Amino acid sequence: MKPFNAAKRLDDMPEYVFSRLNKAIKEVERSSGRPVMNFGAGSPDVPPSPIYSQKLAELVQAPNAHVYPGYGATEELSSALIGWYQDRFGVSLAKDELLPLNGAKDGISHLPLALLNEGDEVLVPDPGYPSFSTPALLVGARPVPYNLTESNNFKIDLDELEKKLSPRTKYIWVNFPSNPTGQVITAAELEVIAGFARERGLIILYDNAYSEITFGDQPAPSILQIEGAKGIAVEFGSFSKAFSFAGLRMGWVAGNADVIAALAKLKSQMDSGLSLPLQGLAAYALTHPDQAWHDQMIKSYVSRRDVIADHLNGLGLSFTLPAGGLYIWGKLPSGAVTSEEFCERLLQEKQILLTPGSAFGSNGEGYVRVSICVNIDNINNHF
Ligand SMILES: Cc1ncc(COP(=O)(O)O)c(C=O)c1O
Repeated sequence: MKPFNAAKRLDDMPEYVFSRLNKAIKEVERSSGRPVMNFGAGSPDVPPSPIYSQKLAELVQAPNAHVYPGYGATEELSSALIGWYQDRFGVSLAKDELLPLNGAKDGISHLPLALLNEGDEVLVPDPGYPSFSTPALLVGARPVPYNLTESNNFKIDLDELEKKLSPRTKYIWVNFPSNPTGQVITAAELEVIAGFARERGLIILYDNAYSEITFGDQPAPSILQIEGAKGIAVEFGSFSKAFSFAGLRMGWVAGNADVIAALAKLKSQMDSGLSLPLQGLAAYALTHPDQAWHDQMIKSYVSRRDVIADHLNGLGLSFTLPAGGLYIWGKLPSGAVTSEEFCERLLQEKQILLTPGSAFGSNGEGYVRVSICVNIDNINNHF
């Protein structure tokens, strides 16, 4: 066999941050003989409501559970999503305005292949979810970071966006509640962003994966509730955080029918749809909300957020408590080492894993991201 060479396009592509950190955890556990307290990925640890676990067990026993599910949504899932958008946001959707995904990340990472030509530009939040950028690079497009900074309260500055536009700018990623900053957005603020995009012919890709994880009185809005937004926007939704189904890999995209048709065409070559049991579970979850379970989950995140925050103060980190999402975005003490070095030291010395802010873009340097969905029973043994 000739010497093995992976594709050149992988040379400039970093391994996904949590794939890399999971390996580091194993090594440190081996060398220290002590379990690492993992504040890395935002993997919801509150078990799903038992009503859904029971339903899933039933659904996998159905005679047709094993067959290929087809490429779009089942009738049942279409009508459940349509009903949910109507009840939750007052948004009417048609069947060609939604598509189930194998997790929101499936749609987010495949969309560049469906929408971008080489040399196209996409505006991405900095700091932001890494999958807004890396898959675009793989198709020869250019992610152009826009700033989410403390001085701007981690909100979007439209004057800055204006300066980042070029004739090649095709779309903009917007994500609130934000990973990693924990900032949220109001419908009025979304309306201004939608107006900006509409006037400039930009598509908005709105990541609303944390729409059901907010800690204040105001529920998160949908971009699709802005009048005319379906003309220019799609929204990604996820069952991972809202229902603690992260490992089951269920999500959706809703909104502009042309964008969705392009993604559906691409995905028809990439996968074989979302399995029937999972579509059945998705439909059931949307039509049978377990409010008591949801309230309890939020309560658990809030109480852990506050305990973790106290311990982070002890490390010299400063932050505003997140209003939504699953992370504290902590600023390193001034004069500290890089975020990578800070995290590496904590891992080696205290067996605590935080995510270096630099993994989320250059504005993440000087910060760390701390997941709040972590078992904190033994937190005092580590800090
Ligand atoms: C902003 C954001 N979007 C999307 C996802 C992925 O969601 P899913 O599990 O549905 O693929 C995540 C996961 O952490 C996220 O932080």
